[in-house]
Amino acid sequence: MSLHTARELLEKTNGEWAVGAFNVTNLEEVQGVVFAAESENAPVIIMVSEGAVRHAELGYISAICLNAAKQAKVPVAVQLDHGTSLEMAAQCIRSGFSAVMIDNSRLPLEDNVRITKRVVEVAHACGVSVEGELGIVGGKEDDLVVADDEARLTDPDVAEEFVRLTGIDVFAPAIGTVHGLYKSAPALDFSRLEDIRARVSVPLALHGGSDLSDEDIAKLIRCGINKINVGTDLKVAVTNAVRQVLAQNPDMHESRLLYIAVREAVRDTVVKKIRLFGASGRASSMRL
Ligand code: 13P
Repeated sequence: MSLHTARELLEKTNGEWAVGAFNVTNLEEVQGVVFAAESENAPVIIMVSEGAVRHAELGYISAICLNAAKQAKVPVAVQLDHGTSLEMAAQCIRSGFSAVMIDNSRLPLEDNVRITKRVVEVAHACGVSVEGELGIVGGKEDDLVVADDEARLTDPDVAEEFVRLTGIDVFAPAIGTVHGLYKSAPALDFSRLEDIRARVSVPLALHGGSDLSDEDIAKLIRCGINKINVGTDLKVAVTNAVRQVLAQNPDMHESRLLYIAVREAVRDTVVKKIRLFGASGRASSMRL
């Protein structure tokens, strides 16, 4: 099945289910994501943030992700998450990524449009899909920390214009989710999402997909979300699993047992998310 652009996968969702997009940092996390997708027969998007590139180095992490995609029995996209520059997007494209996200949502609109448009030109020339963002999602993603009063929901009128001017393949609106765990009940603006869905024809990506209720996820998909990003829930599962192994085996020195626990924690979490997003069993009917 191997490597596909994110757009190809997302266009198959038809508003009835969503593709899970999971942030990874190392070999065991990539394996956990792909093993889960294979066991659920679901398409999946592996996402590498700039922080993950800094941690693992692009050459190592791209080789791991692309090899996983090549071997996978289900369709896989490998995407840069929250790229902040054309240079970073170009490096990932050169490394073989099938999708990039460019996030200049904190810049003035004209600059966001200009840089996103340029990334689209370069990416499309290489057969790579592009996700762009407008509005500011709150919370913490890598080194990107957005204070509560800085978060800004997406204006549907401007969203329509942004998608048209940039030519992006996937649009990430800010509709009240935050990156990371919620400090209070999430205030999701479903009617704003419906409004954006009505005006924008490209697939919609939800950032801050962790720590939401099953009911909210189902409603977000019904209101038009096609891609759901999950990072924090994997980190929580991984750190809890490592803590548990160490607590149960205080004298243990076999580091491989930790790596196995990481892989299994990621796999089990991703299986749950894929089922929640309605993506189980969708791979074989995709005909890519
Ligand atoms: P969470 O860490 O809240 O799951 O958000 C992930 C995300 O949106 C990555 O772009």
